[in-house]
Amino acid sequence: MAHAMLVPARIAKGRVTSVDTGAASAVPGVLRVLTAKDYPAPPETDENGPPPPPPTILDAIAYRGQPIALVVAETIEAAIEGAEAVTARYAEEAFASKIDSKGAVREETEPREAGDGTRALADAATRIDQRYVTPTQHHNPIELIATSARLTDGKLRIHESSQYSSGVRGAVARSLGYDPATIEADSSYIGGGFGQKGSLYGYSAIVAHAARLIRRPVKLVVPRSQIFHQATFRPEAHHHVQLGADTGGKMVAAVYHAEHEQSRAGQFPPSDYHEATSRLYDIPNYQGTAANIRLDRNDPGYMRCPHPHPSCFAFESAVDELAIELGRDPVEFRLANDGMTDVLTGKPYSSKFMAECLREGARRFGWDRRTAEPGSMRSPSGGSIGWGVAVAAYPSMMVPSIGTLRVYANGRTTYSISGHEMGQGIRTSIANVLVQGLGIDPDKLEISVGNTATAPQHITAGSWGSAGAIPTTAQAVSRMQSALKQLLGGRTPRGDIHRRLASTKRPYLEVQASALGPGQDASALESLRQGGYAVAGPEYPAFTTMSYIAHFVEVEVEPRLRRVRMPRVVSVADCGRVISPRTARSQIIGGVVWAFGSALREGTEIDPRYAGYLNCDLADYVVPVNADIGEIEVDLINEPDPLANSMGLKGLGEVVMAGASAAIANAIHHATGKRIRHMPIRIEDML
Ligand code: MOS
Repeated sequence: MAHAMLVPARIAKGRVTSVDTGAASAVPGVLRVLTAKDYPAPPETDENGPPPPPPTILDAIAYRGQPIALVVAETIEAAIEGAEAVTARYAEEAFASKIDSKGAVREETEPREAGDGTRALADAATRIDQRYVTPTQHHNPIELIATSARLTDGKLRIHESSQYSSGVRGAVARSLGYDPATIEADSSYIGGGFGQKGSLYGYSAIVAHAARLIRRPVKLVVPRSQIFHQATFRPEAHHHVQLGADTGGKMVAAVYHAEHEQSRAGQFPPSDYHEATSRLYDIPNYQGTAANIRLDRNDPGYMRCPHPHPSCFAFESAVDELAIELGRDPVEFRLANDGMTDVLTGKPYSSKFMAECLREGARRFGWDRRTAEPGSMRSPSGGSIGWGVAVAAYPSMMVPSIGTLRVYANGRTTYSISGHEMGQGIRTSIANVLVQGLGIDPDKLEISVGNTATAPQHITAGSWGSAGAIPTTAQAVSRMQSALKQLLGGRTPRGDIHRRLASTKRPYLEVQASALGPGQDASALESLRQGGYAVAGPEYPAFTTMSYIAHFVEVEVEPRLRRVRMPRVVSVADCGRVISPRTARSQIIGGVVWAFGSALREGTEIDPRYAGYLNCDLADYVVPVNADIGEIEVDLINEPDPLANSMGLKGLGEVVMAGASAAIANAIHHATGKRIRHMPIRIEDML
């Protein structure tokens, strides 16, 4: 195995005019230094075809940190030393790095509308008109993004920490001109993956090409400082929220404009900020507009709860402001504005237990002991206590999946399925269904996910991991039961499934299963097989499906240092049927911790002189620690959604984070009387 290191561009925009690899090649242990001239030209793309694969190494520089060379060496140390020895000359161009920079280009996108928001707002008896800012934030899983490639037996085998192994295969094939059938991409375990590892990156093909050229396996682990510049991130977004209520305190209008920083060619869609906020309440007049602000930066992208987290921070802060303006209790006000119809489509929700989340959360939290006046509650140590609430939603989507289940007479069971283990415990959920359905021994069960060699792999993201894999797994269970029954032909031998199978003198029995989302047909399965994108929802032919959550937060603001800590949280989620109680609970705890980080700690600093990120390590990109957070109490409504899919489950992994940072900001207002309309909220905001 040889080790590789990327060389990042030291300009934000322009061209590489020459690269000097002499000093790098002279470093002991360096095997090869690759630059743009070693890579094939990007493939031709046509407008109706799939999007182009991410570029490998180019001379044209679109963002600071873009790779200009790859150093391959015997050791990681030699690769790093070699990469540091590469020098380049550039022709620099003017660039725009921040949302308000000269040269930033605004691009409005399709609005999402119901009724007449502006008119209803003008007619409203009470109005809120506020602006909220959510920051640039970067993923920082402990497990860095990494890829390795080796050519054996006529195949290119890629091991990569990716939520989309078939996407990796397809992108490498198109970049380097391989037949996809000659590539296997394996992402069996990827470490923490919350969207960053769902994006496709040029380094997959960069490293695969290096392995071909030097005829040895090559491995690249992207260092954290480079990940900030290379990988997708949560873009800064500005949210202008106007709400109107009638004289009875019913919300009648929402006019919400969101805009975010975007790269010149990036696709991360701003209109999705409206996906959740339009589906919390019965607000008949909803005008949702959105824009990209195009800059010379790397591509923003999906980061846990990508749109509803920032949008619900803004919207649920505004709802809190409106409730206070109206003199209403924030829980009672939200309950009074609940609705069961998706105003954007006019169709019903397949299920919605947001009100139950609010009622159960309020009961567990002890909300009725809250005194409404800001600053009216104190801790024994003299700190200001604040209690805040917020709700949120996240689209519940489905993807097709294909599973192959084999039960062996000797006690083993193997199962391969579309899906990725991105830290959420998808194998645990799948095992729950197999063990409960077949009575097999979990210790002798092997589950393969994320591997293109064993099952076609759709991207796992958007909280559809369970909705993709679990209905298929349930079908595999029932097919296995009927296949065995048929084989036994009316006999009922004693013992577990393996012994019953052994009685037929067969070494194993295999069944295949697949499932689709409501409204999908066989073309979705074909798209899955081709490594494409086949997502259904949240708007299905007859209904809309969203997951919901309510968060109740207690903050304590210290009297002198003004540090904000969170002694207590109660979060109650509606994700339909709960398949795996332990991992579901863990998702909620993780989401709440991350929301705390977002609300009070995390922000990426950009240096506008260079368009680079300044705090790209875990010392300067501050995340929560145990002392910040006390008890996180979790509950799940566990009401199956009868329409969403055969198992009645809805997505969970992302809704858990949405709204929690608004509940924190609302609690801070209750503690201090200060309404902070940006994240992260830091000590200087509390003085
Ligand atoms: Mo998620 S941010 O769609 O992996």
